[in-house]
Amino acid sequence: MRFSILALIPVVLAAPAALVAPDAKPVYWLLAGDSTTAPNGGWGDAFLSTIVALGSTGHNRAKSGATTKSFRDGGYWNSLLDGIKQYKNDYRVYVTIQFGHNDQKANSGVNLAQFATNLGVMTDEVVAAGATPILVSPLTRRTFKSGKVVENLANETAIAAQVVKDKSRHYIDLNGASTTYMNAVGQAAADKYNLSPDDRTHLSVWGGVVFARIVGDLLVAAYPDEFNAVTTANATLTAIIKAGKAA
Ligand SMILES: *[C@@H]1O[C@H](CO)[C@@H](O)[C@H](O)[C@H]1NC(C)=O
Ligand SMILES: *[C@@H]1O[C@H](CO)[C@@H](O)[C@H](O)[C@H]1NC(C)=O
Repeated sequence: MRFSILALIPVVLAAPAALVAPDAKPVYWLLAGDSTTAPNGGWGDAFLSTIVALGSTGHNRAKSGATTKSFRDGGYWNSLLDGIKQYKNDYRVYVTIQFGHNDQKANSGVNLAQFATNLGVMTDEVVAAGATPILVSPLTRRTFKSGKVVENLANETAIAAQVVKDKSRHYIDLNGASTTYMNAVGQAAADKYNLSPDDRTHLSVWGGVVFARIVGDLLVAAYPDEFNAVTTANATLTAIIKAGKAA
């Protein structure tokens, strides 16, 4: 009995390794964006703590109130690019870029054309610095009208998709996935993810975990070779979301 169990061990150990490219480094995640990614209201911290697997790591660099313009003007973008240089020898560095909630405000100083330009320049600069950009369309707000989520980030989503198409870069449609999920669960369940009872933009801690799971599942589905081995699955939560049930 003892011998037969020992004989199985190398086979069991070999199976997962075969799925991983031999030269695969762990990932360093740099998260750029506004408050819907930032600590205290976004999905970023939960992404780092519940999706990123042991060995990989990252830093939530998103800023509350940020636009594609203010993130650069405030020095946050250049600091992030410096971070790439620091980490790229030891890690595969990925930069998620998710903006739109503040860019779309009338007083932001960023019109739609500038939004497109800014996202494109950010994408190019990440590549030039030696990392892989991932454009993320903006997390939906959770206000409903006649039983459906009000899709008030459609322009910004279309632009993010177009920029990525033009440049053939990584993209996940968080806006689409979060809209679909909120439409499935409805307003009452959606409000459970609010940071405060009337705040249908920002996320509670649990809301962060749920939407970080959506981000992680989108990444693994779109780029399994790059992300399967460096993320942590939660089949239970994934199944609940897929079924359109309230998590
Ligand atoms: C989307 O952009 C168009 C102009 O291209 C504008 O007329 C419309 O109001 C915008 N929609 C939203 C929800 O901002
Ligand atoms: C996975 O998701 C379930 C359902 O939301 C949750 O109860 C559980 O704590 C999660 N497990 C881990 C290890 O995070």
